[in-house]
Amino acid sequence: MKVTRQIIWLAAVVAVSLLTGGVASRAVLATPSNNAPANNTLASPQSFAGIADPKVRSAAYFSELSKVLMSPRCTNCHPATDRPRQGDDKRLHQPPVFRGADGMGVGSLRCSTCHGAANFDAAGVPGHHGWHLAPPEMAWEGKTAAEICAQIKDPKRNGGRTLQALIEHIGDDTLVGWAWEPGVGRTPAPGTQKEAKALVEAWVKSGAACP
Ligand code: HEC
Ligand code: HEC
Repeated sequence: MKVTRQIIWLAAVVAVSLLTGGVASRAVLATPSNNAPANNTLASPQSFAGIADPKVRSAAYFSELSKVLMSPRCTNCHPATDRPRQGDDKRLHQPPVFRGADGMGVGSLRCSTCHGAANFDAAGVPGHHGWHLAPPEMAWEGKTAAEICAQIKDPKRNGGRTLQALIEHIGDDTLVGWAWEPGVGRTPAPGTQKEAKALVEAWVKSGAACP
């Protein structure tokens, strides 16, 4: 039943995009991750060794990491409102879908209706097991690096995580990892997940100072 609904929705998505020349033509024209800027990279923790003041150095690790956190791949799923956003231009999600009590959508527009276990590039639909929206207290959209830093350290606003758990979540979680393999037409998050993990780890071990 669920699978049937997913197929019907995907057919609808493909049909609409054929009519509008939207997703489908992008999927045809775009090569995977085609629009990554040349400097879509992350500096290594070692490259901050020249900063003598440990607090300043720690904050510098976070500033570098914030390139990832503030990328559309993360903020589209950590939005300020109850609606996810789409694409590198962070436009409001079409069709209009809403967070719902469990972050997985409302009524017939559950995330899993359209978002499968993996990217479906033919229709330009991203996917990963357990695709859903981050809760409101974890919203990053429109926030500064300093604001995200304060919030991500706060167990009341980070899902009760310790700093050590943050290293693992950003460094090893596969839903987070989707951001580096986002499918056709989307710029991957900067650097690699491994490089991002190294920065979180360096930041935590140096006292987790904020910019
Ligand atoms: C009716 C189908 C449908 C439903 C239901 C749906 N989505 Fe989507 N979603 C899509 C399609 C299609 C795209 C790709 C659109 C594009 O990139 O132009 C997309 C893209 C996204 C993206 C963009 C990823 C990026 O960085 O570009 C996010 C985030 C997202 N959806 C979250 C959700 C969440 C969370 C839910 C449930 C609350 C949800 N979607 C429900 C069809 C759907
Ligand atoms: C498909 C949607 C989705 C995408 C894409 C996504 N997240 Fe999340 N994120 C979530 C959900 C849902 C939670 C809450 C899960 C929980 O607490 O167990 C969450 C929670 C988090 C948390 C812990 C809470 C906090 O705010 O401190 C971190 C850290 C995080 N995500 C990092 C990232 C990073 C980094 C990226 C991009 C590289 C990213 N996420 C992309 C859905 C997403």
